[in-house]
Amino acid sequence: MAEGNLDGKVAVITGGARGMGAATVRRFVAEGARVLIGDVLDDEGTALAAELGEAARFVHLDVSSEAEWTAARDAALEAFGQIDVLVNNAGVLLFRTIQETSLDDYKRVLGINLEGTFLGVRIIGAHMLERGSGSIVNISSADGMKGANGLGAYCSTKWGIRGLTRVAAMEYGHRGVRVNSVHPGGVDTSMGNPFSEERAEVNKRYHMVPLQRVGDPDEVARVSAFLASDAASYLCGSEIAVDGGMLTGQYYVGFPGAPGVE
Ligand SMILES: NC(=O)c1ccc[n+]([C@@H]2O[C@H](COP(=O)([O-])OP(=O)(O)OC[C@H]3O[C@@H](n4cnc5c(N)ncnc54)[C@H](O)[C@@H]3O)[C@@H](O)[C@H]2O)c1
Repeated sequence: MAEGNLDGKVAVITGGARGMGAATVRRFVAEGARVLIGDVLDDEGTALAAELGEAARFVHLDVSSEAEWTAARDAALEAFGQIDVLVNNAGVLLFRTIQETSLDDYKRVLGINLEGTFLGVRIIGAHMLERGSGSIVNISSADGMKGANGLGAYCSTKWGIRGLTRVAAMEYGHRGVRVNSVHPGGVDTSMGNPFSEERAEVNKRYHMVPLQRVGDPDEVARVSAFLASDAASYLCGSEIAVDGGMLTGQYYVGFPGAPGVE
């Protein structure tokens, strides 16, 4: 996508202080948007906003707090006058079997990933509905389309985000606001690569994925930028996998067409 496809647009991006969120902030600014970064990581968020200058502001936003969402909306409106795009990207991962997951653990992950997304869709969505235009991008996961061992709480939220997106698409679409979800596979961030291994090392774990490698955060950011842009004017309720083919199927290892077998 050429630079400038988000000229004049204002975006709120949650979890924007690092990882995929920070890549999305950079991508959006490069394409002409002004961005309010919301995150609980104040130092990282403030530093990123300072680096990007007038086009970016940081606000402390714990997405599980309704009051902080309202304050973030007001901060965006005060700084930039309008909100055209919301990227609900903030999220946490908990690697624990169902048997080892306490109710408090489960509720904490739901509170951030799912309730946080719900609050954004409702509170920022209200502003967009008033204006009669907007685009909401909800970051779900490939794990919102399949199961994954050790990710009972996380998977629940990512499937939930997918359902919420469909409902919002139905309720908001006819009022000028498009709502879509993005489903990344493995992406090289502190969540997807918790031991900060070299990219080549990480790629070795992706032998069951058609593209045979982990994703770069900007590869997901580019899809969010597309969904935010007017080029995506007929997408509403779409679920876009950005996963190197992870969700296409399972290889019959050693049989024709599998990696390593010509
Ligand atoms: N990395 C992957 O492989 C992968 C795959 C699929 C989906 N995702 C999703 O992509 C999104 C971004 O993840 P990432 O890989 O960049 O991970 P990350 O851990 O680097 O970034 C997550 C960001 O969310 C912020 N955050 C956490 N709790 C918050 C809260 N309560 N309020 C506001 N911000 C909060 C963190 O501070 C951080 O900046 C998440 O929703 C994640 O579930 C990641």
